[in-house]
Amino acid sequence: MATLTINGRGITADESQTILDAARAAGIADIPTLCWYPKLPIVGNCRICLVSVEGQPKLLPACATKVADGMVVQTESHAAVENRKGVLRLLLERYPGDHLINGGRADPRNEFEQYVVRYGVTPTPVAQRDLPLRSGDERPGDPMIRHDMSTCILCTRCVRACEDIQVVGVLDVGLRGEHTEIIVGADGDPDKAGCTWCGECVRVCPTGAIFEVMPRQRFRPEQIRHPEKVVRSVCPYCGVGCQVDLHIADDTVARVTSPDIELDTPNQGSTCVKGRFGYDFPQHRDRLTKPLIRKGWAKQGGRWLWRGPTGSERRGGPWQTIEGEGQNEKPAGPPRAVGKSVRELPLLERLDLDIRDRVATPASWYEPFREATWDEAMELVAQELLRIKQQRGGDALACFSSAKCSNEENYLLMRLFRGALGTNNIDHCTRLCHSTSVAAMQRALSTSAASGSMREVEHAADVIFIAGANTTESHPVFGAAIKRAHERGVKLVVTDPRRTELAQRADIHLQMLPGTDVALFNAMLNHVLARGLEDKQFIARRMRDFAAVRESVRPMTPEVAAKITGVPADTIRRAAELYARGPNTSTLWAMGLTQHANGTDLVTSLLNLMLACGMIGRWGAAMMPVRGQNNVQGASDVGAIPFVYTDYRSVKDPNNRAEYARVWGVDPTSLSLREGLMVTEIVKEESGVRGMYIMGENPIISDPDIAHAEHWFRALEFLAVHDLFLTETARYADVVLPGSSFAEKTGTFVNTERRIQIGHQAAAPPGEARGDLAILIELSNRLGLTTPFATAAEVMREIAQVTPSWAGVTYPRLEGAGLQYPVPTADHRGTAFLFDDRFPTADGTGLFVPVEYAPPVELPDEEFPFVMNTGRQLYHWHTGTMTRRAAGLDQREPTPVMEIHPADAARFGFADGDPARVTSRRNSLVISCRISDRVAPGQVFVPFHFREAAANLLTNPVLDPYAKMAELKCCAVRIEPVDAPASVPAH
Ligand code: SF4
Ligand code: SF4
Ligand code: FES
Repeated sequence: MATLTINGRGITADESQTILDAARAAGIADIPTLCWYPKLPIVGNCRICLVSVEGQPKLLPACATKVADGMVVQTESHAAVENRKGVLRLLLERYPGDHLINGGRADPRNEFEQYVVRYGVTPTPVAQRDLPLRSGDERPGDPMIRHDMSTCILCTRCVRACEDIQVVGVLDVGLRGEHTEIIVGADGDPDKAGCTWCGECVRVCPTGAIFEVMPRQRFRPEQIRHPEKVVRSVCPYCGVGCQVDLHIADDTVARVTSPDIELDTPNQGSTCVKGRFGYDFPQHRDRLTKPLIRKGWAKQGGRWLWRGPTGSERRGGPWQTIEGEGQNEKPAGPPRAVGKSVRELPLLERLDLDIRDRVATPASWYEPFREATWDEAMELVAQELLRIKQQRGGDALACFSSAKCSNEENYLLMRLFRGALGTNNIDHCTRLCHSTSVAAMQRALSTSAASGSMREVEHAADVIFIAGANTTESHPVFGAAIKRAHERGVKLVVTDPRRTELAQRADIHLQMLPGTDVALFNAMLNHVLARGLEDKQFIARRMRDFAAVRESVRPMTPEVAAKITGVPADTIRRAAELYARGPNTSTLWAMGLTQHANGTDLVTSLLNLMLACGMIGRWGAAMMPVRGQNNVQGASDVGAIPFVYTDYRSVKDPNNRAEYARVWGVDPTSLSLREGLMVTEIVKEESGVRGMYIMGENPIISDPDIAHAEHWFRALEFLAVHDLFLTETARYADVVLPGSSFAEKTGTFVNTERRIQIGHQAAAPPGEARGDLAILIELSNRLGLTTPFATAAEVMREIAQVTPSWAGVTYPRLEGAGLQYPVPTADHRGTAFLFDDRFPTADGTGLFVPVEYAPPVELPDEEFPFVMNTGRQLYHWHTGTMTRRAAGLDQREPTPVMEIHPADAARFGFADGDPARVTSRRNSLVISCRISDRVAPGQVFVPFHFREAAANLLTNPVLDPYAKMAELKCCAVRIEPVDAPASVPAH
């Protein structure tokens, strides 16, 4: 440690710290900085931070000078201040600062101008200068980010942020001398240069030379500079759980920024394109502002009666089914990185339709409905749920809860269905996400969540092994952290049938045939054992039943696996050795592994490899199923799944039932001891479900084999949908309840590393739309379940009461970075990683479960020779309900496109953008081609966000026997030009 004096105050600081770090940590001096930025490489080129250090002949840069014992520093000495004025004067020589002469000093526009005002520097009027204003690449027509390089001061923060935080490298310093400017690489085409529109460059620019477009289109500059309030929330998209600050103007979100980079948040200052620019969907003009009731419902004699048409007309409407829309021809998607400069592609102008007309809810969808009062709508919902319960029993009812809603809302909905309606038919999209991971992890380790944290993967892992996770698109902030880790020398091994960004940069890419993962992981384990690289001590001390796994992998040599997977045996061997040698290997996986009809086996074989190598229970050796939705972990944790109450406590256990009955004030016998049905079981004729309540889910796009699902929902006796928009599912409802978006609620969310975080309400729901919590409280009370809460914090108190691992969670404790559960007591600080000495099983040991390779249910054959894979795109989210109503995001990917390998495209004579017909054994659709070598020959990739070409029309509804997950990642299809005669399968 060094002892030094800054501005007359003695402090101690670590000798690795700079004067700037030490001064800021001690809060004693506001040293100005321009080129310096937290966590960016220090370049020390702007010279504004120079300070006087006693005994030194020259001023020293505070950002680049280490502290030393006995140092005496003056931060605002005469010499330092004069230097700063000189620096600012020089920078102002190229800066359009006339407003700083003409009354603009009272309201500086940015960080740079604040220093100009602070140091009393006045610019020369532009007209009287010799040097012209600076220029640089502008990104004209870009829907989200543009540049006005006349205000650039060449601090290069943007260049370093793009290179070192995002590990992309789009921006560069071009030319030299007085012509120096910031350029976009790849001929000025950000797309071609690999830009992800993350906005990190916007965030760090101190002058607004790089700026976001959308706030300027909707708000005045003063409203942007001085928002009515700034409220901390949690991004509504993926499971990374980025904290965001919502800037409010006119009671709407005007802009999103991210909290300080130094804070201990999951995102540490970054967001991805969705978090930073995908915030305008709540203001889309489609937003439901009043409850809707299907015409045909009438109240008579104090009861609601259906007087409308019956049979197939009962829920009909003047719209095309998803199946019908699938047959329409689609416009070509925007070209991607095909050599054209953005200057030739002004995206805004290229779209001749107003985005809101193109993706808006069609007017015809509203026709079957009339606006209703809340009292009417709630009365009808309560009446019909109780009627069906009375006439058919509680199990004739089911609900889909929402991984987009808060813990408190999910808790209240499962409490309502269990406590008031007596059924465990409660599920949500986890079924179509990580249910197979949960089944496998429960069986092996009796756990349902990640063992570790994202920051240990970034900072402490030696090897990162990623199976079936397109992290840079699906969880981009975590993806950037993985790239940073790779830059610092961590080895990266990726298993994926596609050449994703991480696969391209991986040290080893195991590009296996879809669905052959068990063969691959078993072969890796086979080789680990052959080399004696297993962790014998871990296996002996912490695990059971290894002998069976050893036997089961014996026949799967790398040579055998090579024939099955298509990955060379040597590559399998190299990957196995890298994995096992670690010393700390973190294991990540996602939907590419889980969304298979044998997903539980796939995850189990990965767990066997991980556990045999002892890669869990140490900082740096994390087990991490990367969670999809922002609260899919929390929705499961609070019991919105059919088998368990909160904390995964079985509904079959009478003791659990007695405890929840006591807290909820109901008769224990009114709570069912029978496990409920899962999402994929509910939507079947034999389920017996006749009435549903759906909160924030859109199963008519997300369920496999949509044509069947659409038919099933139409045949329900009663359907209530609680959502923001009249979705593809809501259009079939009897009652639609307008709820609240993430910005309009206070509640908590759990991210992929078990971190419970709080989001605060920033705006009011529009019109008569209500907070989701208020809707659920009123409905619970109407159904006779006493629900005395007024706020989310009060609901959390009850959750903590019935959830041992959340017992120490309170709202005040969640402020800031939140808490990673388990948090068993009020003074417990949360748990960054688990299982250092035992697993949560009865005897503390884990279980090996042998699994053998079985081929995917559908293999390509003569009739259906391609394998179709489905998944997410960077710019969209799930069924597109939110992102297709976010202007910037939708302009990046406005139409559905299918990735097809150049060789396959050539065989059909397809050019980029040409329409193709894709046909599986279930159905057929038309989609335009995007030629890309990210997919292997013989495979195509169809994103699942678009109702006009819904991938799930084609997917196979065959289910995993344990988790009831459908085969979403692998189905055999045929590709044809659209002018070929259609041969749509009968179904
Ligand atoms: S948006 Fe992100 S990727 Fe694109 S230039 Fe800026 S920092 Fe780089
Ligand atoms: S664009 Fe902004 S961040 Fe980049 S060099 Fe110029 S002033 Fe600095
Ligand atoms: S901030 Fe220190 S030299 Fe730029």
